[in-house]
Amino acid sequence: MNWREIYASKLKTPQEAVKIIHSGDTVLIGHAAAEPDGLVNAMVDYAVEQDLRDIHIVQQHDMGACKFFEPGLEKHFKYASLFIGARSRNYVAEGKGDFVPVFFNRIPDYVTNMDPAQVFLVTLSEPDEHGYCSYGLSCDFAKEAGERPGTKVIGAVNPNMPRVMGDNFIHVSNLEAIVESDEPIHEHGRPVIGEVEEKIGANIAELVQDGDCLQLGIGAIPDAVLKFLGNKKDLGIHSEMISDGLMDLYETGAITGKRKNIDKGRMVITFMMGTKELYDFVNDNPAICMKPVSYVNDPFIISQNDNVVSINSALQTDLMGQVCAETIGLKQYSAVGGQMDFVRGASASKGGRSIIAFGATTKGGTISKIVPFLTQGAAVTTSRNDVDYIVTEYGVAHLKGKSLRARARALINIAAPAFRDDLSVEFENRFGEAL
Ligand code: COA
Repeated sequence: MNWREIYASKLKTPQEAVKIIHSGDTVLIGHAAAEPDGLVNAMVDYAVEQDLRDIHIVQQHDMGACKFFEPGLEKHFKYASLFIGARSRNYVAEGKGDFVPVFFNRIPDYVTNMDPAQVFLVTLSEPDEHGYCSYGLSCDFAKEAGERPGTKVIGAVNPNMPRVMGDNFIHVSNLEAIVESDEPIHEHGRPVIGEVEEKIGANIAELVQDGDCLQLGIGAIPDAVLKFLGNKKDLGIHSEMISDGLMDLYETGAITGKRKNIDKGRMVITFMMGTKELYDFVNDNPAICMKPVSYVNDPFIISQNDNVVSINSALQTDLMGQVCAETIGLKQYSAVGGQMDFVRGASASKGGRSIIAFGATTKGGTISKIVPFLTQGAAVTTSRNDVDYIVTEYGVAHLKGKSLRARARALINIAAPAFRDDLSVEFENRFGEAL
C-alpha cells in the first residue's frame, strides 16, 4: 500500500480509535500545544461508558481541557504530572493526582520505561507528500515515545498544527490509528511587559554579549528580556522552548546563529508555546530545528556551544542563593523543567553564564522573593552550588564563586528596598557584622 492507502486504512472516528484503551493501560498525553482535546474527550466518555478502571494518565505541561479532571472520574483515572500547569495545579494539590519530579532531559527515558501497555494521544500536522506528519510544536519526548516498541500512537491529524522542521516527524505507517481534527491549537498569550520587566530586561541585556547562544525559560520574564536584545549581533538560539518574543527578536536580525559550534545557523528548540503568530512563523521555516529534549536539554550537548547564556525565572531565593522555581511552600506550582539542564549546560560551556531573573516582590509588593529561608516545604530547584547570576529590577547579583557572606550581601542589595532592613537584621545575626 502507498502511504495514502495506509492513511485511509487507519482513519477512524475518535470514538472508534480510543477503543484500544483498556483498564490499567498507561495513556501518555501529547505535551502542551500538542494535547488533543477531542481524543481525550472521547477516551473519557469511553472509559465512563465501559466503566474502565485505573487508566494511568501521564502528562507534562497541561494546556488543554483535561476532561479527566472532572469530579467523580477518579476511579477511572490515576493521574501523574511531570510539570504542573494551570489545570493540574489544584488537582494535584488536592491529592487527587500525583506529581513526578524529573529533569526535562530525562523525560523521554521516563516515558519509554513506563508500563508496556501504552497508548500515546497526540496532535500531529497533516502528512506531507511523503506521508510524514510533524510532531509540530512539541518534539520533546514525543519522538522517542512514538518510536517506542509497543506504544500505540493515536494521531489527531490537524491542519492547524504547523509542520516544524528538524528531527520531528512520524510516518503514517507508524500510527496505530488516525483521527482528523480541526481544533484550534492551544495558545499561550504574550506576557505583559510592565516597568519591572523593562528594568529586568535592561539589567539582563548588560550581561548578554554579541555572539552569545541563548536559552529562554518559561514565564513572563524570560520572554520579556528578548525585547531588550535587538541591538545585539549574531546571537544563537539553543533553547528548550520559545514563545512569541523570540520571533520578534529574530525579525530584528539580531539572531544569526553564525557563531554556534553545533547546529550552526539554526535555532534549536524542543517545544513552543505562544500565539498563532508564532505558530505561523515556525511553519515550514528552515531556520527552526526541532529536536528531542534528550538532545536539546542534555547538559553535555548544551555545553558544546561557547558563551551559552541561560535565562530562567524563580519564585523564591534564599540568602545562600538556593533557588526555588517550582513550589510555593509545599504546593507544586510548576516543575524543574529544563532549568537545571541549562544551568549546568551553561556552566560547562566556555564563557557560559546562567541567569535567574525575577521581580523582587510579588502580590503587589507585599511578598519579597528574596528571603532569609525558603518557605517550609519549598523545593530547591537550582542549588547554591549551581547558581550563577540572580537579577531583579534592582540590579545584578553575581553569586558563583562567592562566599555565603558575599552572596547574602549581593542579594540584599537587589532585594526590594522595603525588605532590606529585615534582611540586614538576618545578615547581622548570621555573620556577626552589619551589612
Ligand atoms: N510566594 C507566594 N506566591 C508567589 C511567590 C512567592 N514567593 N512567587 C510567585 N508567587 C505567585 C505570584 O504572585 C503569581 O500568582 P498569581 O498567578 O495569583 O498572580 C504566581 O505565583 C506566579 O508567579 P510569577 O512570578 O508571575 O511566575 P511566572 O509566570 O513568571 O513563572 C516560574 C515563574 C518560576 C514559575 C517559571 O519560570 C517556572 O515554572 N520555572 C521553572 C521551570 C523552568 O525554569 N524551566 C526552564 C525552561 S522552560
